[in-house]
Amino acid sequence: MMVRIPDVLTAEQVRRCREVMESAEWVDGAVTAGHQSVKTKNNMQLPEGSPAARELGDLIIDALSRNPLFIAAALPLKIFPPLFNRYRDGETFGLHVDNAVRPLRGTPYRIRSDLSATLFFADPTEYDGGELVVEDTYGTHTAKLPAGHMVLYPASSLHRVEPVTRGTRFASFFWIQSMVRDDGARSLLFALDMAIQDVARAMPDHASVVRLTNVYHNLVRRWADC
Ligand code: NI
Repeated sequence: MMVRIPDVLTAEQVRRCREVMESAEWVDGAVTAGHQSVKTKNNMQLPEGSPAARELGDLIIDALSRNPLFIAAALPLKIFPPLFNRYRDGETFGLHVDNAVRPLRGTPYRIRSDLSATLFFADPTEYDGGELVVEDTYGTHTAKLPAGHMVLYPASSLHRVEPVTRGTRFASFFWIQSMVRDDGARSLLFALDMAIQDVARAMPDHASVVRLTNVYHNLVRRWADC
């Protein structure tokens, strides 16, 4: 399931992030690639743990922790500190899969990547190409969203970034370990949550709202690790 999360950041926050990104030092994106993806990865990144990456990463994590749609869709347990990439001059990232488990730099901890996230920092009019293309069992899905918007997709999917043939594509990418590991179970919970919210808006006093909410929480209780 691919979920689009609009307006994760305000226009002002996007502007601040772009200022930092445009004056930062970038390094070859191969630094965080696994041995299979390094062959197809051709982009630049902010160095992991650099002051710029940390400042912008904290801003993103803070925004996500207050975003109800993100929380409903991801049921996050741990979020990898956001990384940042830049594509221009034909740069691209060919079809690959993200590593299943990532060490958290400078700590003894690891995070399992259940979901992958891409948060866009350039508007689609600023560049040509650069679509994120995700393959899942229901076919191929494409995302190229306005600055400040984010897409979430199962980290188990093969995916790629099309060559950027004009302008510059700035984005943040990171992974989420979910309380609900199974993508199918998580998708059912998300669908149920959204439907309950619709019913609660249309018929706030209907007795079934509280009963359905009870079912939702009991499913989370059954399936969640935390
Ligand atoms: Ni990837």
